[in-house]
Amino acid sequence: MPTQIEARFAHESIRPRIASRVLNSKEELLSGRYAPEIRALLEERGVLVFPEIHFTDEEQAAFTRTLGTLAKERDGEDVFLVTLDDKKNKTGSEYLKGSLYWHIDGTMNPVPILASLLASKKLATWGGNTGFSNTYAAWNDLPEDRKVELEGLRVLHAAWASLFYYDPEPALEKLKFMRMAGEQELPLVWKHRSGRKSLVLGATAQHVVGVDAGRSAEILVGLREWATRDDFTYSHEWKVGDLVMWDNTGTMHRAEPYDPACARMLHRTKLQGEEPFV
Ligand code: OGA
Ligand code: MN
Repeated sequence: MPTQIEARFAHESIRPRIASRVLNSKEELLSGRYAPEIRALLEERGVLVFPEIHFTDEEQAAFTRTLGTLAKERDGEDVFLVTLDDKKNKTGSEYLKGSLYWHIDGTMNPVPILASLLASKKLATWGGNTGFSNTYAAWNDLPEDRKVELEGLRVLHAAWASLFYYDPEPALEKLKFMRMAGEQELPLVWKHRSGRKSLVLGATAQHVVGVDAGRSAEILVGLREWATRDDFTYSHEWKVGDLVMWDNTGTMHRAEPYDPACARMLHRTKLQGEEPFV
């Protein structure tokens, strides 16, 4: 009898509290056969790495579609080029400066994107890892009395708040421009449909509603420090061809500093959100 090689979903943990590596082939991933398992593992682990999978843009978009609804870019394209090269980056490099600080994508939208997939095409000459923090684990490990204090708090998120991270003395025009990107009040603790809870933090978190400015800053700084401690984080050192996907509803991420003059290039696709912040 010919031996049957049983195809299976193959993965291993990278760090105890965050990130797994998926070891299936390109063909297996594109078949969609493991889509439910990939979705479940993503929610559980926050970050999935597909080492040196070398998807083309078309394959990356097709793989994204096996997992849900691909969220198109504003110009109707499937793929966005994440680079500081203004000739290639359609929104301009300005917006990417904010990505050097811990953030969640889409905090100006009621339903943020579910996940992002980044594929490395060209490495930075120095630096340029992408860092991730598991905000489910960070919430989970807080002491019970702290959870009681924090639950129910609401935070005003504003795109303009992130401007001050990289431009502490902005021109008024620039501030006005960033204000047009919107503001939104969000819960500090996101109660997901699954019953799990995660922290909603990041560079757009401007202040805790109804709390004085100093105390509000202490809460937000303290929680960012907690959520980004070593246990809850993973820093991905890119190899060309790597694909990294993160659950944008249960993680924060940031680009680590890199040579701004280099041609670091990542191609991004996104999965449309399925759950509002509540
Ligand atoms: C993003 C992002 C981080 C990076 O694409 O949303 O924050 O490392 N990227 O470029
Ligand atoms: Mn981002």
